Amino acid sequence: MTDIQQKLKTLREEIRQHNYRYHVLDAPIISDGEYDRLLHELKAIEAEHPEWITPDSPSQRAGAPPASKFDKVRHPAPILSLANAFGADDARAWFERVCKLDERVSESAFTVEPKIDGLSVVLHYRDGIFVQGATRGDGEIGEDITANLRTIKAIPLKIPVSSNQSSVVSEQGELPLFKDSPALNTEYSLPEYLVVRGEVFISHKDFASLNERLSEAGEKTYQNPRNTAAGALRQLDSSITAQRPLTLLIYQIVHAEGGTVPNSQWERLEYLRELGFPVSVDSRNFSNIEETITYCANWEEARDQLPYEADGIVIKIDDLELSDSLGIVGKDPRGATAYKFPSLEVTTTLKDIQIEVGRTGVLTPKAVLEPVEINGVTVSNATLHNFDFIAEKDIRIGDRVLVKRAGEVIPYIIASITEARSGHERPVHPPKKCPACEQTVEKIQDEVAYYCINAACPAQLIRNIQHFVSRGAMDIVGLGIKIVEQLVNEGLVGDVADLYTLEKETLLALEGFKEKKADNLLNAIAASTAQPLTRLLTGLGIRGVGESVAADLTDHFADLDALRAATQDDLEAIEGIGPNIAAAIVDWFLLPFNQQILGKLRDAGLNPSNQLSVVSDQSSVFSGLTFVITGTLPTMTRAEAKEFIQEQGGKVTGSVSKKTDYLLAGEKAGSKLTKAEGLGVKIISEDELKEMVN
Ligand code: IVH
Repeated sequence: MTDIQQKLKTLREEIRQHNYRYHVLDAPIISDGEYDRLLHELKAIEAEHPEWITPDSPSQRAGAPPASKFDKVRHPAPILSLANAFGADDARAWFERVCKLDERVSESAFTVEPKIDGLSVVLHYRDGIFVQGATRGDGEIGEDITANLRTIKAIPLKIPVSSNQSSVVSEQGELPLFKDSPALNTEYSLPEYLVVRGEVFISHKDFASLNERLSEAGEKTYQNPRNTAAGALRQLDSSITAQRPLTLLIYQIVHAEGGTVPNSQWERLEYLRELGFPVSVDSRNFSNIEETITYCANWEEARDQLPYEADGIVIKIDDLELSDSLGIVGKDPRGATAYKFPSLEVTTTLKDIQIEVGRTGVLTPKAVLEPVEINGVTVSNATLHNFDFIAEKDIRIGDRVLVKRAGEVIPYIIASITEARSGHERPVHPPKKCPACEQTVEKIQDEVAYYCINAACPAQLIRNIQHFVSRGAMDIVGLGIKIVEQLVNEGLVGDVADLYTLEKETLLALEGFKEKKADNLLNAIAASTAQPLTRLLTGLGIRGVGESVAADLTDHFADLDALRAATQDDLEAIEGIGPNIAAAIVDWFLLPFNQQILGKLRDAGLNPSNQLSVVSDQSSVFSGLTFVITGTLPTMTRAEAKEFIQEQGGKVTGSVSKKTDYLLAGEKAGSKLTKAEGLGVKIISEDELKEMVN
């Protein structure tokens, strides 16, 4: 093997590891910018030597030519469905039925898994390489969506993700400790042909930020995570699929040939995890049905806390031979059932439609509903997406409408129930004037949104400031919407920079302000001048630049001046930044009004630079790692240890959690040590800490 081939091999392994840490473990140890650089390096070598490209190379996730149709794929075994159990009694009835069929069930253990409301997919691996992926189809034959599935970074292109390797040698020296990296259980041998099944979905959080980005850019927002994921999977052009935040969890071995796999569902999940597949952390194994049902009932209460939409919990008899021997009714195996959660869809009356003015001037219709309870929360507003949606669905004021609320996704209207109309319902038309400033409304070509284009529109300014001070941006506590409205309506603040020249006397003259409140607000504003670059950038409200894009930008630019100097091409070269966002950034810096704001912010002492990235460019041994310090260290004080870790790009927090990578423990370590041991967090001494750097 030549040096360059060796380099290629190392790079691929390294990228695979980072990919696994980011997309499966949710615990990255390098910045997105560093990841981009590695991938860029790999692609450069492969461009020189196309003959060395293999289908499992991390460069091969996107770029397949668009297809004209999907081929059919026959599944190696039927892709089955599940019968439902509605509540605890129904689940017990299922248990009793199967006990009657085979009394061994009464002694059996159960494995439970969240029932994700996504799309079932079937993935084929030959000799550890991902070779084909299909939709469920009719359960016998699905469609070949391999090119689309390859773009989902949670899907390993090669298994096991890692051999027993515990470190990767990179340019930054030896990168240690892929802490949770799978170490393969030697009891089983990897099947030559392995077919697994999982559920593709979009998390609540990713869906919300996707829609936020689209709505800021004046584009059509998506209606719900499931349909968005379904649409993305069925794209003939996989480069479109690649732009949607799809992920998946694997829960079943459909077929295995030329190797051995465990016979218990619980052990199979563990085995799949060891191979590098993403497996739900909320899966459990119980030795009897009552504990199983209690777990399901608890999730029914707490379903909003799941990061994705789940419509129930799947209960599976753990012994798969026993389970299979019970047979199938139609398409439902007897050995498993779905403990279903109650529906999140209800009907109510659409009382009115209000129009909100966003900070970019987008006018968004909002439904005012007859209040209705959905899963313990009273819902009185819902999104209606845009005026095209209202027209397409023929939604009228006064209609009975079907509303859904799930997780963190804002409640939305699914449809109106036309059968229930009395004839008095009123159709809705897009506005001709801005409801806040009464100026004429415009529709931009190719965009779905209507805009108020008045730069001095007070409603836009209020939203702008509200966004600037919000928790994800400058986090100015105490500056709520009421005060923002007061400041704008009294003409005291004409842009975000004016917040920094507010004086105490001015505040005291406002209704509701006393000494203490004025002091607190001024202190909070002053404290925000120390916020880092990402937050300031998020706060500026540039179209398409939310928290995550701002973080990408700060990985590449040290301060606002550097960003201002960036060209459209510079920006588009960053992964995750497309031509629209790049153009919005360039345009934003060109506007004299914005240049004035930047000047005023600078005068107020806001000119953050991104020192972290400077450190991480050189040596960021601890970048992405989180430490907790406890006890008395032999030579360092805790403050010194903290500084030492931060200098190497690490983060130090106060309490131990699942997210903690290391507990740095000295003498007389107490409860934190116990907790870390319980969670399996790696515990290190001061010496070991220093060794990691050397
Ligand atoms: S097991 C015998 N497990 O729910 C295997 N299904 O009607 C039957 N689903 O179409 C499926 N999460 O798409 C199983 N952990 C899980 C699941 C799950 C989601 C979906 C699956 C299936 C439907 C069942």
